[in-house]
This record gives sequence, C-alpha cells and structure tokens, in this order.
Amino acid sequence: MIVVSVAIQKGGAGKTTTTLNLAAALRERGKKCLLIDLDPQASLSQALGVLDEPEPNIYHLLKQEASGQACNPGSAILTRSGLDLLPASLELASAELELVSVYGREHILSQILQRLTVAYDFVLLDCPPSIGMLTVNALVASNFILMPLNAEFLSLKGANSFLRHLTLIQRLNSSIKVLGFVLTRYDARKTMTREVENRLKQDYGVDKVFKIHIRNSIALAKAQQAGVDVFSFDQKSNGALDYLALATEFLSKMTGS
Ligand SMILES: Nc1ncnc2c1ncn2[C@@H]1O[C@H](COP(=O)(O)OP(=O)(O)OP(=O)(O)O)[C@@H](O)[C@H]1O
Ligand SMILES: [Mg+2]
Repeated sequence: MIVVSVAIQKGGAGKTTTTLNLAAALRERGKKCLLIDLDPQASLSQALGVLDEPEPNIYHLLKQEASGQACNPGSAILTRSGLDLLPASLELASAELELVSVYGREHILSQILQRLTVAYDFVLLDCPPSIGMLTVNALVASNFILMPLNAEFLSLKGANSFLRHLTLIQRLNSSIKVLGFVLTRYDARKTMTREVENRLKQDYGVDKVFKIHIRNSIALAKAQQAGVDVFSFDQKSNGALDYLALATEFLSKMTGS
C-alpha cells in the first residue's frame, strides 16, 4: 500500500480535482484506491456525490483514535463510482484544535491507516490548503507528496513556503519523498504558464515536474458538480485524457523511485 498526500499551501490549486481524477484513472488501470477527504470543506466528498455529512466519517475516526480507542476505518468507508472514500464533514475543522493537545498527535492518521483491512494499491489523501494538524498527519502517514499547482506566479510562493515546512516534516517522517509538481489549468499558449514551469524545473529539478500537464477542461468542473469522476462524466474529454496520461507517468515514477 502506497500512501500519497495531494497537498500544497495554496487554495484552488487543483488538489481535490487531482486526488479524485488521478484515483479514477488508476481505477481505469486496474488499481484499487482509497480516497481520504482531510479537508473540512469536504469538497472531495461532495465531488463524489456525498452531500449528507455521513457519520461516522474521518473526523470520528481521528477522535476515537486520539482518545486511545482503536477505530475501525471500514465502518466509515463508502464506495462511489468504484472508488472507496473516507468522507469528511464540516466538524473536521475542530479536529485541528482538538488534536493539538493529544500525545503523539502527528501520528494519529498513520495509526488509522494501519487498521485498514482491505489491500489497497494506493491511498490518496486530499489535504486542506493550509498546514495544520490535518496536513501534518497526512504528510507523516505518506510515502510521497504530489503537489498540484496552477500555472501562475502566485503559486510559486505557496510552493516555496510549503517545501520549507516539508523539511520540518521530514524530522517526523524521514522517508517521505516529493513525487513532483503537476501543473493544472495548463495553457501552452500563455507565456506565463511556460515561465512558471521553467522556474519550477530550475528551482526543484526537471524530474520534480510531471511531464504531463492538466489542461483547462470544463468537463472536470462539470463532473464535480454532477458528483462523479471525469471518466464517468465524459471519458473522451481533455480532462479524462490528461488524468489517464498522468496516471501512466505516476505509475512509472512509482516503479522508478
Ligand atoms: N484543469 C481544470 N480545468 C478546469 N477547471 C478546473 C481544473 N482543475 C480544477 N478546476 C476547478 O477549479 C476549482 C478549484 O479546484 P480544486 O477544488 O481541485 O482545488 P483545490 O486545490 O482542492 O482547492 P482548495 O484549496 O479550496 O481545496 C474547482 O472548481 C475545479 O472544478
Ligand atoms: Mg480541495
């Protein structure tokens, strides 16, 4: 089981869209994935049509595990469009504060993942756009971090500050590796898009920027509104094609790392 945090300290970067549709593309390739919604906005849960804040959800698992009781993650897992999902709810926001005073607080999600009884190929964690207890728990539990980024200059700031935090996280999880940046809403005609890509390559290395870009695709936004992944919505759309190609590159990076 390989655990991947989809995270960056920047709102609207494409984290949720990438978590969902990369997992769906991996499903198309025969891989079994679990998605965990770690964002109190619960956008990933909503994007899979889960609108009713089900109980138990990841908030209850975290609370139970933090109080020293062993949780059963299977009790909170829902299946939507062939993907397993541990949903979130708005009350997850209070976990940020509630976990602060807990002994071993950074490792609670890792413990929950150890209790999974289904053999998943990949667990993808959709992180909130800030670095708090939830993101720290995600990074401590992960083998890799994948960072989606809008191809615009403001995003570079978010990337820099996020990677500074990651150095601190490595004290708690020395084996976490940066899988790379994925450029989203990519428009090759725009000079700025290419400049951002070149800057990332210069600053972090060519191998840290995925060759596959995710183009602007209205199908991605519409699929989210419809509560399904892009393959279930329109498998011929640019969004579906790009995420399928991304999954191929993702899998080859996995075997190469
Ligand atoms: N390639 C794309 N083409 C068109 N729209 C996109 C694309 N990627 C994402 N979007 C849209 O942009 C918005 C933000 O994307 P998303 O929710 O994935 O970002 P996020 O990083 O998870 O945001 P947050 O930080 O709030 O969690 C969404 O409305 C989504 O539908
Ligand atoms: Mg999101």
